[in-house]
Amino acid sequence: MFELCGTLSGDRESDERVILDTLSSILSYQRDSYHLISDLANTAALIFNTFRRINWAGFYIYDGDKLVLGPFSGEPACIDIRVGRGVCGSAFERGETVVVDDVSLFPGHIACSSASKSEIVVPIFSSSGSCFGVLDIDSPERGRFSSFDKAFFEKIAEVISKEAVG
Ligand code: SME
Repeated sequence: MFELCGTLSGDRESDERVILDTLSSILSYQRDSYHLISDLANTAALIFNTFRRINWAGFYIYDGDKLVLGPFSGEPACIDIRVGRGVCGSAFERGETVVVDDVSLFPGHIACSSASKSEIVVPIFSSSGSCFGVLDIDSPERGRFSSFDKAFFEKIAEVISKEAVG
């Protein structure tokens, strides 16, 4: 139903456009009511199935006290993360993207899977400006996430903020 809205060609700019168009079509799909969890689940599945060399993609959502595991694709993961703890809690607390090239060198990294070697965590904001939670993507390769990936995942987080979280 939600196939990529075009073919990935290997050209970064055109592939990014295809992925963002697909995400927008997923998030604007007509349904009977507002389904944030469904939107986040489909977004995690899109990322997990589109990007190479990643082994986990998903969300941690702020419940007013801590970050709680949200929709994801990949192996089962830690359920609660305190603000300021791990890569997710740090990105949430700082309100900025954290890229970790080698998770074994990140103080306080929370190892949900020993397969994960590098990680990027992008905060997601609501329209009021408060931090809703984070998008977390892990890779089995060290140094997987470039500055281009960072800029692109930040664009994805913006689309999620505008079209899913509100
Ligand atoms: N490694 C993360 C925890 C979440 S898992 O990677 C899915 C962290 O340090 O916050």
